Amino acid sequence: MRTLVTGGAGYIGSQTVRDLVTAGTEVVVLDDLSTGHTAALPDGVALVQASLADAASVRAALDGVDAVLHFAASIEAGESVTDPRRFWRNNTANTLTLLDAMVDSGVHRLVFSSTAAVYGNPESVPITEDAPLRPTNPYGQTKLASEMAIGDYARAYGIRHVILRYFNAAGADPSGLHGPDHHHKTHLITLCMEAAAGRVDSLSVFGTDYPTPDGTCIRDYIHVADLAAAHLDALRYLGAGGPDAVFNLGNGTGHSVRDVVACAHEVTGVDFAVVEASRREGDPTELVASSERASAQLGWRPTRGDLATIVGDAWRWHESHPRGYGE
Ligand SMILES: NC(=O)c1ccc[n+]([C@@H]2O[C@H](COP(=O)([O-])OP(=O)(O)OC[C@H]3O[C@@H](n4cnc5c(N)ncnc54)[C@H](O)[C@@H]3O)[C@@H](O)[C@H]2O)c1
Repeated sequence: MRTLVTGGAGYIGSQTVRDLVTAGTEVVVLDDLSTGHTAALPDGVALVQASLADAASVRAALDGVDAVLHFAASIEAGESVTDPRRFWRNNTANTLTLLDAMVDSGVHRLVFSSTAAVYGNPESVPITEDAPLRPTNPYGQTKLASEMAIGDYARAYGIRHVILRYFNAAGADPSGLHGPDHHHKTHLITLCMEAAAGRVDSLSVFGTDYPTPDGTCIRDYIHVADLAAAHLDALRYLGAGGPDAVFNLGNGTGHSVRDVVACAHEVTGVDFAVVEASRREGDPTELVASSERASAQLGWRPTRGDLATIVGDAWRWHESHPRGYGE
């Protein structure tokens, strides 16, 4: 079994690559290292340092490959509003480049990294996969467009696929050796860790007047190790002939911003300052997944879903790696 992992040097991709290697799968990573890190990869993994936009390199990387895990993307929703052309190019156009190369190379298994952002403001929670798809920013639109293209390629060219819609990826490898290292830090738990480590003065809470019990937004945080495990489950599912499918990946439990801050204060033992700010445009009030389908059809069960575990693993990484991978 040889698997191509696009974006395999990134936060979630590299966690998955390490699991694949541990499971004895041969892995080829295609990554332009725009936000990824070679130090995140296990020794001996083949790295094709190239952009997905480079069709010739993508074709070459597909040689002898049985399945593709497609993580590579631009991921910050806020940036997608001010720089949509980069997101449409990188997320959607480059996905088409990959799909074309897969069709031409006869590679017919794909696991795609999608996002809860395809749902926009949900009518109700927990959100099931059948909820209306109404993204509220270009990031979510580019991911939804990619999902639609994958569906069309599946029907016409037999690309068998699993689409995984992640909720809020969080945490770090339980070893403390690997974790998120994004130049532009926007994830709440990462920002709490930065504040606890004294690398920023305070944490901003955007909006305290939402219709939630404590007035702050509610999200479903899912451990990066649990996300990685779902990809191995998805590969097994496709290998066993499972039909094309879409799965939400979340814990099914919502935590408010204030819950996360309180947990971070407790886990780190640092009472970092919190500043209340006005709402950010486009932030949905509550995003919580129903992952019952992934549980029933993939046999996927999060094992590190407890918020204190997620924050504790994040803290181990951030405390011991003040400069991330230091590259
Ligand atoms: N982090 C989250 O909370 C979250 C939530 C939902 C979905 N996702 C999705 O999961 C995937 C991985 O996210 P992440 O948090 O690991 O991000 P990341 O930025 O850490 O990883 C993305 C990787 O893709 C690479 N890459 C980007 N553009 C490329 C290109 N054109 N060619 C080759 N490589 C390229 C980057 O160098 C990086 O290694 C993305 O598709 C993202 O949309 C992430």
